[in-house]
Amino acid sequence: MTLILGIESSCDETAAAVVRDGRQALSSVIKTQIDVHRAFGGVVPEIAAREHLKLIDAIVDQAMHDAGCTLDQIDAIAVTQGPGLIGALLVGIAYAKGLAFASDKPLIPVNHVEAHVQGAVLGLDIPETELYPCLALVVSGGHTNIYYMPEPTVYELLAYSIDDACGESFDKVAKLFGLGYPGGPVIEELARQGHAEQYPMPRMMEQKNKLLFSYSGLKTYMVNLRGRHASQMNEQMLRDFCASFQEEALGQLVRKLDGASQQRPAARSILIAGGVAANQRFRALAQAKLKIPVYFPQLRFCSDNAAMIAALGYQHYVKADDTSVFKQLGWDAFSRYQFG
Ligand code: KG4
Ligand code: ZN
Repeated sequence: MTLILGIESSCDETAAAVVRDGRQALSSVIKTQIDVHRAFGGVVPEIAAREHLKLIDAIVDQAMHDAGCTLDQIDAIAVTQGPGLIGALLVGIAYAKGLAFASDKPLIPVNHVEAHVQGAVLGLDIPETELYPCLALVVSGGHTNIYYMPEPTVYELLAYSIDDACGESFDKVAKLFGLGYPGGPVIEELARQGHAEQYPMPRMMEQKNKLLFSYSGLKTYMVNLRGRHASQMNEQMLRDFCASFQEEALGQLVRKLDGASQQRPAARSILIAGGVAANQRFRALAQAKLKIPVYFPQLRFCSDNAAMIAALGYQHYVKADDTSVFKQLGWDAFSRYQFG
C-alpha cells in the first residue's frame, strides 16, 4: 500500500488530500477563496497567495486527520508545480518542501493539467490494463485538449482549441445574457427546460478527422442570435438559446472524441476531466454516443482538488527507478515538466 499526501495551491483553491495507491481518496479537503475574490470580478493573484498562506497549514492538518494517518505513514508528498499563479504556487511548493525536508520524505512535483486527468480514476475499481492506452479530454475554462496516453504519465497532444476553450465559451455566453460567472452551471440549469432543436447552431470544425476545436464562432453566433431576437426576448427563449448552444458546445466534444478514438483504435477507454466534466448533459451524450467506455470524475474531483495531485504523484512515484530523485529539492515553479 502506498500513501501519498497531495497539496494544491495553483489558483484560488487551497487543498490537501491523502490518496491510497493512486485511486482511493482517504481524505480530500478543499477550501475555495471564491468569496474573497468575487468583489474584484476575478481571481487577484496577490490576494490568492496570501489566502493560501493563511490556510495551508490547517488544510494539510485536516487532510491528515480525516485520513486517520500520521506523517510517518505517508510514503511521499506530491505538490502542484504548475501551471498556475506564481505566488499561489510558491506557497504550496515552499510548504511541501519544508514538510518533506523535515520528515525526510520524497517530494514529487506534479503538473496540474495532467493531474486533472488522474481525477477521473479516483474511486474507480478497474485495473490499469483495462484503462490504458486511453484518450484523455481536459475540458475547462482554459483547456480543450485531447491526449493519447499509452500509459499513465505519458501524454501525446492530439487536439486543442484554436481559439476559446469550451468552458470559456459557456462563460462568455453566460456573460452575454447577464447570467454571472461561472457560466457552465447556470447555462446547464436553464438548458434543462429548453429545447435544443429550437435554434440550430453552426457546426464548428466539422471534419471529424481534423482534431482541432473551435468555440469563438459559436459565441459570435450567439451574439448575433441575441441581436436578432432582442425585441422578443423572454424566459423560454433564453432557455432555448442555452439548450441549443449547450448541445453544439458539447456535441463538438463528443464528435472529436469519436474522431480521436477512430484514429487511435488501441485506446481502451476515455478519461474526462476539468470543470465542464461536471455537466450532466455532457455525461449522458458521451455515454450514449462514444463506442469505448468513458469515465468521468466524481463531481468533487471535477474542479481543483488535491486528491488528483496525489493520484498523479503516485504514478510518478511507482514509475521512478530510483525514488531518491524525489529528495532533490532544487526545482521550483519555473522548472516545469522536470518529472514528466
Ligand atoms: O477546471 P475548472 O474548474 O477551472 C479552470 O478552468 O481552471 O473549470 C471551470 C470551467 C468554467 O469555464 C465553467 O463555466 C465550466 O468549467 N463549467 C461548466 C460546468 N461547470 C463548470 N461548463 C459546463 N457545464 C457545467 N456544469
Ligand atoms: Zn484545474
